[in-house]
Amino acid sequence: MTSHPLVTELTDAEKAALCTGASFWELMGVPRLGVPSISVADGPHGLRKQDRIVDNLGIAESKPATCFPTAAAMASSFDSALLERVGAALAVEARAEGVSVLLGPGVNMKRTPLCGRNFEYFSEDPYLAGKLGAAFVRGVQGGGVGASVKHFAANNQESHRMTVSAEVDERTLREIYLPAFETVIREAAPWTVMCAYNRINGTYCAENHWLLSEVLRAEWGFDGLVVSDWLAVNDRAAGIAAGLDLEMPHSPDGPARVLAALESGELDRADLDRAVSRVLELIDRASAATGPSAVDVDAHHELARAAARESAVLLQNSGALPLAAGGAPLVVVGPFAETPRFQGAGSSRVVPNRLDTPLAALRAAFPDRRIDYFADYDAQAAVAVAGAADAIVFAGLPEQAESEGFDRTTLELPEDQTAFLDRVRERRGRLTVVVQAGAAVTMPFAAHADAILFAWLGGQAGGSALADLLSGAHSPSGKLAETLPLDLRNTPAHTNFPGNGSTVGYHEGIFIGYRWYEAHGLPTAFPFGHGLTYTTFAYSDLDITVDSAAATATVAFTITNTGSTAAAEITQIYVADPESDLPRPVHELKGFARTHLEPGASRRVTVELDRRAFAYWHPDRADWLVESGEFTIEVGASSADIRLSQPIRLDGEPLRRTLTATSPTGAWLTDPQAGPRVRAVLAEAADGLVGALLDNPQLDPGRYEMLLSMPLNRLGRVNSIDFDTRALAEIAAQH
Ligand code: BGC
Repeated sequence: MTSHPLVTELTDAEKAALCTGASFWELMGVPRLGVPSISVADGPHGLRKQDRIVDNLGIAESKPATCFPTAAAMASSFDSALLERVGAALAVEARAEGVSVLLGPGVNMKRTPLCGRNFEYFSEDPYLAGKLGAAFVRGVQGGGVGASVKHFAANNQESHRMTVSAEVDERTLREIYLPAFETVIREAAPWTVMCAYNRINGTYCAENHWLLSEVLRAEWGFDGLVVSDWLAVNDRAAGIAAGLDLEMPHSPDGPARVLAALESGELDRADLDRAVSRVLELIDRASAATGPSAVDVDAHHELARAAARESAVLLQNSGALPLAAGGAPLVVVGPFAETPRFQGAGSSRVVPNRLDTPLAALRAAFPDRRIDYFADYDAQAAVAVAGAADAIVFAGLPEQAESEGFDRTTLELPEDQTAFLDRVRERRGRLTVVVQAGAAVTMPFAAHADAILFAWLGGQAGGSALADLLSGAHSPSGKLAETLPLDLRNTPAHTNFPGNGSTVGYHEGIFIGYRWYEAHGLPTAFPFGHGLTYTTFAYSDLDITVDSAAATATVAFTITNTGSTAAAEITQIYVADPESDLPRPVHELKGFARTHLEPGASRRVTVELDRRAFAYWHPDRADWLVESGEFTIEVGASSADIRLSQPIRLDGEPLRRTLTATSPTGAWLTDPQAGPRVRAVLAEAADGLVGALLDNPQLDPGRYEMLLSMPLNRLGRVNSIDFDTRALAEIAAQH
């Protein structure tokens, strides 16, 4: 890269100072050169601009701002356009407060449902998290404010987050933990990336040259600035050399350490200049940015309400919803109806500028229906629910349960809630349970509730959004961006989480989320991608156009609203690779579409699949590989509800392995150069019997497999068969 023109004007002391913050939320400026200081603020779902006491733990207050639903919620909308609008609104609020960079979105994967920060992350699926993260960044940056995609990378637990080493193989990193970041970088070019606290395979992310320079910059073409997570820096000089440009917040001893390392030769001047250039470029970008900064508080509140509506997932409904406008009194139970859970704790905690409560919103939505409210889950409320025509019980996780900084230890809801729901098994009318939680919980009451609406942490307008959905003014349409498990013991990382304090082994590899449950045939409470609406949809006329050589496909199908309510259907496109050199998931999400349809209406939907949709990371190749052969394209209403599917064939690429004399004969045979030569030698052996078997494995499939698994240099020891071992050794030596 070329250095920023001002680099040559700076003293070493100024350079070292620029590589750390000026304060908790501000970058250093250089007043004598007219370089201003800029400021940054959390967070992903609302602006957390502090002006007095500063902290990253969510303890001190911040200025009132619009609190949008958290990422876990908005991911259930599968709605990139919505994420972009929310990002744009956040940019307006940031500009109004003079904030140049918004510290979000978080696109880490949900390896375990217990991660304390799952509410802040989008999904267990890297494709979905990447697409939604990119949309969010486009929205923020389109408004003249930088985004900071975080926490790069493999920050999948809060336990020991500042020191733990995620022990994870490269294929798993490439297929699961890195792609969401890659998509955001390639598609939305964020101004900054925030590196994670943890280590990967022993090296701090803040000092990880492979991660920050080779993968992020050289491979993905990232041209912005890498900032540390707050207090993530261990060795500042090593960080600069690895590609960590800016340390935040201000470090009193950081600059001195940098100067000492420069003097001793431990730190290259070129590395320091590069980091300084990136800081100056970020300040330039921020200074040049323009965009609206007058906040329309009402419009943002309405956007938050729309976002919360699209986020809620109707998990089950045997006719309880929507509620009728009038009739017998409606019984509402649970403190969350009055004091809703609407956000998580930690650095993303926002002071909302308004707060809609579900109870008040329900009263407004049902002017002709009496509402009897019981705050406590007690005997009196149980009697009311048992006798009611319609009851809504609000359940959810307590505020202290979900936070940055620690993980949950259980998937269970508080005992008083589950005991109450158990008590109202026998009842006269219909029971709806509304769940407010930022992450997966187990729901033992599912078998006897008539409806469950999973509302997530819906932000400041979540209450009115719930009334919109319960009343039927809008149909729910969200679908799960994470699996809801039946039992903690079934979950992917259960025996490998949270590690031993210093390391955590990612032994489940690429199999997290639905990839895990499907590979192991494990039941779930509700599968990935599941969600109901107030109508029904039919899928038909699948048509797939394949460019076999390019390994791309266009998937077209028709959706029809076959019910009597307008609603949106979220369709998911999965790709399965039934035969592959290495184990692959049963299928993987590679596209999605959201289609809003009036009753009776139909629409043709088209989804493009690129080459990556078919590829997997092959360690032998140290690259992505599309294997030749058959793939299945599936069009689903959820991961477990595939409506249309069709096999296709792709030319793919040969898998070129590193072959040695001890490599299996089968691997030699598949090599495009050596394969035909090996085959010709083998074909001669045993009067042509080996050739016949190679031509037609069905003659003796067991023998065929044995032959293929023999190392090439051991064939000669099969005494009874006259393999030309000299010829084989020659081929191996020449390879
Ligand atoms: C969090 C980041 C946040 C930063 C600043 C850290 O504790 O991990 O997500 O942006 O603090 O508040």
